[in-house]
Amino acid sequence: MVVIRGATTIAADEKEEIRAAVKELLEQAVNRNGINRDEIVSIVFSSTSDIHAYYPSKAAREAGFEGCALFSAQEPEIVDGLKLCIRVMLFVEKEIAPHHVYLRGAKFLRKDLTSVINIAIDGPAGSGKSTVAKRLSADMGILYLDTGAMYRACALKVLQAGVDLNDETKIVDLMRDLKLDIAYENGAQKTILDGRDVSEEIRLPHVSMAASSVSKHACVRMKMVEKQREIAEKMSCVLDGRDIGTVVLPDADFKFFLTASVDVRAKRRYDELTAKGISVDYLSLKAEIAERDAQDEGRAIAPLKRAEDAVLVDTSDLSVEEVVALVKRKIQEKI
Ligand code: DC
Repeated sequence: MVVIRGATTIAADEKEEIRAAVKELLEQAVNRNGINRDEIVSIVFSSTSDIHAYYPSKAAREAGFEGCALFSAQEPEIVDGLKLCIRVMLFVEKEIAPHHVYLRGAKFLRKDLTSVINIAIDGPAGSGKSTVAKRLSADMGILYLDTGAMYRACALKVLQAGVDLNDETKIVDLMRDLKLDIAYENGAQKTILDGRDVSEEIRLPHVSMAASSVSKHACVRMKMVEKQREIAEKMSCVLDGRDIGTVVLPDADFKFFLTASVDVRAKRRYDELTAKGISVDYLSLKAEIAERDAQDEGRAIAPLKRAEDAVLVDTSDLSVEEVVALVKRKIQEKI
């Protein structure tokens, strides 16, 4: 069971206003969390005392939320609190990382949400997203969250335990006991697994492939997405990954999707690994990247996909400087 929280505001205590606001709030909660209405066990509203308290649950029923228990309550007065505000809690019979929904000025209830900006950069392996994300975060003085490193750490855990990458039952147990911490040292992300810094180890090619495999499991994604949202809600950051703009932060302030040809991407990875003294064969690296693309794009949950509102950047013929400049220009244009 999870609880999805949310809030919205209305302009006046009128039935039509409440009806529209409640409908929008509930529909967004359902859509953003990918739940079915019949998975909702109950919906609890609480309204500020300037609203007819009973009406939100009536409005929910009118909006077609009929199969669950509906309650409306009135909140005690809060000095300087938001006026004409309706809060909601949806109790849902499903294991998901909840995406809370704050609309129409209610965002200001969450000070932590208003003062942060989130930049989502998605794309396949070697598209340049981590280089660009790191540069952007340094230039803007905000955090960089490498979500791929988190899936890599999960893969390492599974590999260390000698568990089959497809054995979801055993992986569920491993995820339950996972101790994964993201730390920062001089602005650089450190990935700490079971108290050990695994930042280098997770870059090895066999871990890349394993990360792509384990990341298809719901139990892994749920845990990672929850952690990522927790970080992004508290701090301004640039996040790179596969599903940031589509699933993790569909409301990110800025979204980019980086791509490049497989040849260019394989060459970049080859140069990166050989520079670190890791010997790799270019052709097998290229085959591995193509296989990983297919696996990441083809999985059922949160596949690698460009969000409709993400800016598409083909980095094949662009230098890092050119991509960073282009991304910054797009951010400036939107601000
Ligand atoms: O970005 P990367 O190459 O470090 O990611 C390693 C794997 O982790 C990638 O092949 C798929 C998975 N991944 C994911 O499924 N979702 C993310 N947000 C980031 C990575």
